[in-house]
Amino acid sequence: MPSTLPEGQAVPADGALPAASLDALGGAPFGVYVHVPFCVTRCGYCDFNTYTSSELGPGASHDSYADTVLAEIALAAQVLQRADRPLPEVETVFIGGGTPTLLASDDLGRILEGIDKTFGLAADYEATTEANPDSVTPASLATLRSRGFTRISYGMQSAVPHVLATLDRTHDPARLPDVVRWARDAGFSQVSVDLIYGTPGESLADWERSLDTALALGPDHVSAYALIVEEGTALARRVSRGEVAAPDDDLMADMYLAADARLSAAGLGWYELSNWARDDAARCRHNELYWTGADWWGFGPGAHSHVAGTRWWNVKHPAAYAQRLAEGRSPGHGREILDLETRRVEQVLLESRLHDGMPLVRLDAAGRAAVPGLVSDGLVELSDDSHRLVLTVRGRLLADAVVRRLLP
Ligand SMILES: C[S@@+](CC[C@H](N)C(=O)[O-])C[C@H]1O[C@@H](n2cnc3c(N)ncnc32)[C@H](O)[C@@H]1O
Ligand code: SF4
Repeated sequence: MPSTLPEGQAVPADGALPAASLDALGGAPFGVYVHVPFCVTRCGYCDFNTYTSSELGPGASHDSYADTVLAEIALAAQVLQRADRPLPEVETVFIGGGTPTLLASDDLGRILEGIDKTFGLAADYEATTEANPDSVTPASLATLRSRGFTRISYGMQSAVPHVLATLDRTHDPARLPDVVRWARDAGFSQVSVDLIYGTPGESLADWERSLDTALALGPDHVSAYALIVEEGTALARRVSRGEVAAPDDDLMADMYLAADARLSAAGLGWYELSNWARDDAARCRHNELYWTGADWWGFGPGAHSHVAGTRWWNVKHPAAYAQRLAEGRSPGHGREILDLETRRVEQVLLESRLHDGMPLVRLDAAGRAAVPGLVSDGLVELSDDSHRLVLTVRGRLLADAVVRRLLP
């Protein structure tokens, strides 16, 4: 989520969607994202829409947050309700942040229950919450599982103290084995960890240590993200003052290859450029829903939503968000109606990163003409049925350049 939001067109006060998008709802899987915009401290690299207690100011609090989200869920039901058909069932729920586990587990349970009561959860639904290793206990995890969550995603980032310190992470890495075991004991069969590579001062050996430590936890899923030095963050200021070095491209490439080799050897296969899963059942279906252009409602301040070609985003500050809903108004700040060409370009960008590949029918004539050259350069391969384009490992390292050639 960028630190500033585009303006876009105004969203109507009642949040109503264009008739064409409402009519098309149901043509794709439907998911729900819930943003929890609270953190104990701000990590120097992070530009997500999140607030520490001192940054939050009046008009928004952790305690009232679940009720505010429930008010937006009620508004969503009004917006999406059609006389001639039921509301769409929810296939996937993802509670992200911020730090969702700063809310009481009961509050997270009430939000999931509200989604279920309003829309209905599909029989095989997936419900993930992100969690900071410092903000869970055996009891809180047992509550989350008993209230219906199916998946936990821990923000591990690194196992190496000096790397965690540069990232301003405050959790104790020694806690990870405990929190993973507690999740298993609570009945979570899907446990994921997030890692970051390319932190200033991190060596290849440091990164390999983090990978090995993560794998020793026995996760079902690992996300490994290249550190992005986001404009306006404390890290960006430190880089521009010359206090720390910007991530080095060659080292980042070696780190990606080390991740792919180690994770694959441990039985986790890549299914998206930055994501590896033990098997198909361990993939994050919610993220797959984003990557394949499906429909979702994003609840919470700054959250983005997409329904059949209409994309909108909520006001950014938690107090403004709460105020809009208290007044019975949509928290939508702006929206855009995507034309077919924009949707095609976005699909190429997202689907080309998938192991399942990008259907060749997405490409225009110029894009199709680039394919033989990309194949002979060893950057892409055709799927067995020849209908899809899949990045090779070299292509994954150069994914942006590949996409530029597919979208000339
Ligand atoms: C916004 S965080 C939410 C989870 C939780 N608050 C945490 O930090 O552990 C989601 C994930 O995005 C990744 N992330 C955040 N900022 C990033 C950046 N600047 N570069 C790369 N990855 C980033 C981290 O791996 C993080 O776990
Ligand atoms: S805990 Fe996560 S969301 Fe919060 S500041 Fe750190 S990276 Fe960002």
